[in-house]
Amino acid sequence: MNKLAFKNCLLIVTGSIAAYKTPDIVRRMRDEGAEVRVVLTSAASEFVTPLVLQAVSGNEVRQDLFDQKAEAGMGHIELARWADAIVIAPASADYIAKLSKGAADDLSTAICRASEAPILIAPAMNLQMWENSFTKEALDSLMKKGVCVCGPDSGSQACGEVGLGRLVEAEVLLESIANLFNAGSMAQIRVMVTAGPTREYIDPVRYLTNQSSGKMGYALARAACEAGANVILISGPTNLEPPKGVGVEYISSASEMESSVVNNIRDIDIFIACAAVSDYRPEIESSQKIKKSASTFSLKLIPNKDILSGVAGLTNAPFTVGFAAETEKLERYAKDKMTKKGIDMIAANLVDNDGTGFNSDDNELTVFWRDKSRILEKQSKEKLARKLVTLISKVYRESL
Ligand SMILES: Cc1cc2nc3c(=O)[nH]c(=O)nc-3n(C[C@H](O)[C@H](O)[C@H](O)COP(=O)(O)O)c2cc1C
Repeated sequence: MNKLAFKNCLLIVTGSIAAYKTPDIVRRMRDEGAEVRVVLTSAASEFVTPLVLQAVSGNEVRQDLFDQKAEAGMGHIELARWADAIVIAPASADYIAKLSKGAADDLSTAICRASEAPILIAPAMNLQMWENSFTKEALDSLMKKGVCVCGPDSGSQACGEVGLGRLVEAEVLLESIANLFNAGSMAQIRVMVTAGPTREYIDPVRYLTNQSSGKMGYALARAACEAGANVILISGPTNLEPPKGVGVEYISSASEMESSVVNNIRDIDIFIACAAVSDYRPEIESSQKIKKSASTFSLKLIPNKDILSGVAGLTNAPFTVGFAAETEKLERYAKDKMTKKGIDMIAANLVDNDGTGFNSDDNELTVFWRDKSRILEKQSKEKLARKLVTLISKVYRESL
């Protein structure tokens, strides 16, 4: 069965340069069985023509609210009722701001106000526009009203910058549209995942790190996204492809990870701390390469902040999930860690097991929460992540 069979999808295209990608998106939505109608904002028509979108959608494209012919039968209300889902892609910074303020001064915003259909927004804009607090606040307020957000992706942008702000790939957008109809276990939930190792620099060319590959954290971010969550991944250095549809922030040291977590934690429902964060860092990071001089060399280390207990200790803390990689006494050490850090759930594994743990493709976990536990048997990290996400969302919902 096609993902969008028999679904009426209203695509609202706004004034982002990524609007040039929408004919392809419409074609793919139709390939998945959707009936597609398109509304263009006035700015959008500077980037893509109504004629192209009419040709690929097979339906008349509407642009004006005050269109005498179309509004003879209250066309905007008819469209608002017709839509099973409203997809705003690409969604410009301006449009996101307008929508969050409840504007209804043009055809597309009036439809959004009049419709009861679920709304999915796929932002696309320059990196600074994306990071601007107006954009974050507007999106936060839309998400609180139940609007779903897909992306943006990270990568090179039309303006020459590199970073977050690209429109997600068409297949990711399609998956998110399908999720609107088939809401997964994490629909409407905002999840933050940390992943990978950290690097604690001794001098410009040397650092302390650990063996974490980031695979488990990336798999969790992907699984949470597939389950319908809005996911932000804070990642240490890894060789992994960022999961599609997940917002990624790259950091290097534990302090950078802590700042990134603190900056993004507001309104997060579930915090999954999967990164292998260094407990210590060199007291002094030399600005120049340290030269070999004496026969011994001592390095004084000072503790890094504990990110997970910091988050767990916040007023209105999110549901917190930690990881414990132990070499012995798994249950005792994991439970101690859960209590000491004041977290809701802990997923523990033995690092010296055959073919599991750090850097491997498989893993095996024992998950503890309250007075309960569950063993998730050895399997690929991808499969394990899906099982863990289902368990986390169940326990999270029970905790509400
Ligand atoms: C060449 C060009 C490219 C633009 N690209 C974007 C973009 O990718 N994202 C964005 O938010 N705004 C972008 N803008 C600015 C918007 O077009 C502008 O804010 C407009 O008012 C948005 O209208 P809307 O509310 O219909 O989206 C761009 C402007 C120009 C001239």
